[in-house]
Amino acid sequence: MSTAFASIPVAPGRLPLLGHAFQLFFQPLPFLAGLRPPGGLVRVDIGRLPMYLLTDPGLTHQVLHDSRTFDKGGALFDKVRELTGNSLLTSAYDDHRLQRRQMQPAFARRRIAGYVDVMNDAIEGVVDTWSDGQTVDIGAACYDITARTASRTMFATEVAGRDAISLSDDLSIYLRGLFVRMMMPTGLRWIPTPDRLRFDRAVGRLHQAIDRVIASYREAGVDRGDLLSMIVKGRHEDGSAWSAKEVHDQVITLLLAGIETTGGVMSWTLYLLSRHPAIAQAAAREVDAVFAGRQPDFEGLAGLHLLRRAMMEALRLYPPGWIFTRVVTRRTALGPHELLPGDGLAYSPYIHHRNPGLFDDPMRFDPDRWLPEHRHEIPENGFIPFGGGVHQCIGDQFGMTEVLLALSAILMRWRLHAIEARPVMPVPRRATLTPSRFKVKVARRR
Ligand code: HEM
Repeated sequence: MSTAFASIPVAPGRLPLLGHAFQLFFQPLPFLAGLRPPGGLVRVDIGRLPMYLLTDPGLTHQVLHDSRTFDKGGALFDKVRELTGNSLLTSAYDDHRLQRRQMQPAFARRRIAGYVDVMNDAIEGVVDTWSDGQTVDIGAACYDITARTASRTMFATEVAGRDAISLSDDLSIYLRGLFVRMMMPTGLRWIPTPDRLRFDRAVGRLHQAIDRVIASYREAGVDRGDLLSMIVKGRHEDGSAWSAKEVHDQVITLLLAGIETTGGVMSWTLYLLSRHPAIAQAAAREVDAVFAGRQPDFEGLAGLHLLRRAMMEALRLYPPGWIFTRVVTRRTALGPHELLPGDGLAYSPYIHHRNPGLFDDPMRFDPDRWLPEHRHEIPENGFIPFGGGVHQCIGDQFGMTEVLLALSAILMRWRLHAIEARPVMPVPRRATLTPSRFKVKVARRR
């Protein structure tokens, strides 16, 4: 092809054989966020495997909106596929189109409104156990809420008690190991470290638990109005039913994609509010005005303007899904560069959201950025916490509804006092941005 294409620069610090494994392992966030190549694409090597990181929002938009050329695959999704098989999160273009059409109705607005009671139960099941003056680990509490919600919206009745706990623990172990496995040079992946054995055992238990539930649903053949009842009814284009394996893959995908992400948004919003008490108080007054002490409901959420803006800032500063990959399927141009079939790409909401060229004073928590009069300052394509194009998160409204319900219930009842002055940092080397030890003392408001 033409020689007019520019070569893709290599990120600094590459070592022979290891590539950038050292930086990716020890400081992935600052390393990747510090890369600002002129053409919007930079090469980062996972061992000897090159991955091209997108740093320009226009190019990222092009990639997200041309999923035929830039399909699911690459370092992350090739790993995730080992757990979820060929599911909505990992499937390639044609399969994905069919699967998305099947799954979309489960996430319709009407359906989400119907999940609110289950969400409120899960939230109260956690928040109502707190007592005045207690120290609460907010990260763990939020994870608990979203794991309970996910297992109950997914399986209305079957997964309760110990099964639900082991499911959410095993997902957490999986997510802890995923990033390391993704970034590890291939030759090192099979060393049987204790972490690797724990990871493999967790994956085995996850598969077994989900198989048990699906078998019992198929046997009962009853529509329980939950997600699994809808998925079990999945059909191929020729009308044949999805196999047990296909149902299994979608179930594990929704659990994987929905729990830690939503818990992360919840925790980070509470963290940001705990560092900005005046905004937290104003948000609590707003919740009081909207719900007047009643249990939060779906309709009322539309009145939570400040709280929603605070959540948008959490999604901007700490987008839970912070790195995703794609594979190039045909020879193509991307900005000044040429890419070939098989090339791996990565995009990162985190990098865009913290780019000073896109957001004014990007590290500042400023819910007012999201006021209607400032919305035009939000850069087009620069805010992508839910991705974009055909792979845009199917659970975005589900997740945001759950976050706002939980924050309302918490702010209505509790004042949160941060215990430590040190800033909370994301847990390093995790596939989602999760806060490390964020403990607060809770004081009862009412
Ligand atoms: C509120 C927190 C959430 C965030 C920030 C989030 C973020 C994302 C992002 C960035 C993607 C696109 C990935 C890519 O481009 O490769 C995605 C996809 C996806 N998410 Fe979410 N997500 C959240 C909640 C949820 C929930 C609650 C569910 C399910 C109940 C879910 C299920 C999925 C699925 C199945 C996909 C794949 C969609 C497709 O390719 O068609 N997510 N999510």
